[in-house]
Amino acid sequence: MSYDVVVIGSGPGGYVCAIKAAQLGLKVAIVEKRATLGGTCLNIGCIPSKAMLHASEVFHEAGHSMAALGVDVGAPKLNLKNMLAHKDATVKANVDGVGFLMKKNKVDVFTGTGKIAGAGKVVVTGDDGKDQSLETKNIVIATGSDVAGIPGVDVAFDEKTIVSSTGALDLTKVPANLVVVGGGVIGLELGSVWQRLGANVTVVEYLDTILAGMDKSVSKQFQKMLEKQGMNFKMGAKVTGVTKAKSGAEVTFEPAKGGDAETLKADIVLVATGRKPYTENLGLEEAGVKLDDRGRVAIDGHWKTNVDGIYAIGDVVVGPMLAHKAEDEGMAVAEIMAGQKGHVNFDVIPSVVYTQPEVASVGKTEEELKAAGVEFTSGKFPFTANGRARAMLATEGFVKIIADKKTDRVLGVHIIGKGAGELIHEAAVLMEFGGSSEDLARTCHAHPTMSEAVREAALATAFGKPIHM
Ligand code: NAI
Repeated sequence: MSYDVVVIGSGPGGYVCAIKAAQLGLKVAIVEKRATLGGTCLNIGCIPSKAMLHASEVFHEAGHSMAALGVDVGAPKLNLKNMLAHKDATVKANVDGVGFLMKKNKVDVFTGTGKIAGAGKVVVTGDDGKDQSLETKNIVIATGSDVAGIPGVDVAFDEKTIVSSTGALDLTKVPANLVVVGGGVIGLELGSVWQRLGANVTVVEYLDTILAGMDKSVSKQFQKMLEKQGMNFKMGAKVTGVTKAKSGAEVTFEPAKGGDAETLKADIVLVATGRKPYTENLGLEEAGVKLDDRGRVAIDGHWKTNVDGIYAIGDVVVGPMLAHKAEDEGMAVAEIMAGQKGHVNFDVIPSVVYTQPEVASVGKTEEELKAAGVEFTSGKFPFTANGRARAMLATEGFVKIIADKKTDRVLGVHIIGKGAGELIHEAAVLMEFGGSSEDLARTCHAHPTMSEAVREAALATAFGKPIHM
């Protein structure tokens, strides 16, 4: 069979690329080795974790904050089986939705492992071992990423006691003690899920700060909030061993700066120390596709590999491992293959941690700007001074805006607070249009909304004074 485009991998990068390419009139096929479409994000990542985050949050609210609103429900009872069923149903609806979109856009779906057999040729090996050969003008590698494990440490994942994010989304019992290795996004999101459901959670993190790369004022305050919720932290602690014990498992760590080792016992250990690009068994070497120094598929500024007609997008290439970054690259590369100009603005890619409160950011952090020698002004506004937040008992957190000192152009926005993951997008749109903090400060915001705190932070940045503080 002959195509204009064959996409390998049906995660948010791959399936969005396939749809966009089909919309632009190209004949498209997509190859997926999982039985269902949607990749890590829809099957075992973003979507199921959000179902569990939401459900566990409702459970926690019922037990903790509803009474203060005058809603007496008694002690809530956890029905974990139903909660997991809700998660599975959410996944099914989403993966089926992608299947529907493939049909609607006349994208041919091939289930099996795709391997590049040179430029213009992809061989798909099905579960039955039979090969199908696809001819194509273009190939898009969108194979995503896999659990990285701990460098230098042999971790025997069984997805029951020593789990990655995959197993942590399917525990059939709430662990009494959960040790999380890695204070990044996965560790904090899934740690929060099980803590809300009753687990005693300890996060062991190598660095002195959680959510490395986030604005320091945000990560510091966020850690305090999590500690107030009962999460324990061992910071500056390098995990050197994760082993199964007679019952449960043990995590050994030593101070990152040197010192005596310590061991923690746990019922379950979640190892969330990053992900690595998925490049194995793709035929890259045979096809002559080069990798970069970190094992990612090497691309130019237009997602083209060193081999003509082979492109790569998403987690398998440089940049943040985020579904929406992959989607944007998928759309851009489809436009390029259709002869148009595809572009992604890497300066405006929001990032959200879906805990409670949420943490969201877009653009540069204070630390990045200082390191680059850029002069900036910044303004902050706390949700404690926001009427809507008070009405919802959601006063934790703040909005921080950073703007260029000379031009007032907004360079970064950082939010901790309920719904921060939604609030961040007005900042993203503003930044995409090169807006200033004064532009935002002069934009009428509906009252009473959490978004008013974003405007107040803009007032603090542009004029040095918010109204309501
Ligand atoms: P991560 O890179 O966000 O965090 C890993 C953490 O593990 C780091 O803080 C690191 O210092 C720590 N670590 C590494 N080795 C260690 C050791 N030996 N001992 C102790 N700590 C150690 O990785 P994570 O959380 O696994 O997420 C993987 C990817 O998935 C990330 O790129 C993330 O952005 C993405 N993701 C994004 C989500 C979102 O946007 N909401 C949700 C889930 C994942």
